[in-house]
Amino acid sequence: MMKRRLLLAGVAAGAFAVPFAGMLTSAVAQEVVKIGLIATLTGPQASSGRQKVAGARLFMAQNGDTIAGKKIELIIKDDTGVADQTRRIAQELIVNDKVAFLAGFSLTPLALAVAPVITQAKVPAIIMTAGTSVITERSPYFVRASFTLPQQTIPITEWAAKNGIKTAVSLVSDYGPGIDAQDAFKMGLEARGGKVVEQIKAPLANPEFAAFLQRAKDLKPDALFLFVPAPTAGSLMRQVVDRGISQAGIKVIGTGDITDDDQLNGMGDAVIGLTTSHFYSAAHDSPMNKKFVADFKAANNNLRPNFIGVSGYDGMHLMYEALKKTNGNTDGTALVEAMKGMKLESPRGTFSIDPATRDIVQDVYIRKVERKDGELYNIEFDVVKDVKDPTHK
Ligand code: PHB
Repeated sequence: MMKRRLLLAGVAAGAFAVPFAGMLTSAVAQEVVKIGLIATLTGPQASSGRQKVAGARLFMAQNGDTIAGKKIELIIKDDTGVADQTRRIAQELIVNDKVAFLAGFSLTPLALAVAPVITQAKVPAIIMTAGTSVITERSPYFVRASFTLPQQTIPITEWAAKNGIKTAVSLVSDYGPGIDAQDAFKMGLEARGGKVVEQIKAPLANPEFAAFLQRAKDLKPDALFLFVPAPTAGSLMRQVVDRGISQAGIKVIGTGDITDDDQLNGMGDAVIGLTTSHFYSAAHDSPMNKKFVADFKAANNNLRPNFIGVSGYDGMHLMYEALKKTNGNTDGTALVEAMKGMKLESPRGTFSIDPATRDIVQDVYIRKVERKDGELYNIEFDVVKDVKDPTHK
């Protein structure tokens, strides 16, 4: 009798033992936090994807893949630069993979395409390139690790006005960031007594600039201000050189997108002296940046990091710090709250996330292309500190 009761008890305990053991293993096994990195890895914007993936991976290699006891898993997807793909991939990453964060976005339209998706799902999305101001206003779940065009453009208007530039023509790619750049350039230069005599827009899809450059040359302004998305810069600058814009006495200026570190060496000595404003140069003189550049090159077949590479790196840093602050809680709203006001050290210098706009606040440098140690670099010679996007309400 006694024996039988014990046996029954044993069976009962056994029946409970299986689910209990199951609960134990899941509690003990490390939980995974997934990050969906949507990069453009094929097509004309492919250098953008290559840079941000390399930057994100380097941050993980240097800082490990465990935060607040959870294992970080990076899922990388190629959207080929097509907004419908970006949106579809974002939905799949949220619904199937249950990512805690999305990140990436090489072009403004690709970021805008995910705004309704992240708002509905309450999943934070870290912008690692796209620079049109309005993006962060389109969803309370966007946080920007890159820059905005007005933020980068106003400082070059200050430099231009101080350096005797009275008249200018702007030539930009005809979409969000180009329009932001041309508007900020006009606002900044005219507030300082200059005049923008013509604003020229070139189609984004067709990097054929000859006719537009000839038009600018014929207008004989003191300066020509340029913006194109960085992967198009090599093609633009070859045509600027071919048209002899500088030889005609027109000063070529722009945001740092046009002297992109990824392509600068291929532009040749004709771009020496070209002055731009931007938040990152591979030549930035700090111990943290020297290590970043060396480690980035070592891990990527000697590829030089550009501003997109550093934005990928800093974007990962923001996500790691947010998870630390929430102690591993992956609630999207809590993660966004954690990033508001965050201040981080970066190879670019210190930056912070404006708590009111979730946009980035950072130093913007004035730089000149110079040859150094046998290579072309953007050498920083002046700085405007803690620049906010001037157009957010
Ligand atoms: C953008 O599409 O917002 C964009 C892309 C590349 C840049 C700058 C802006 O270099």
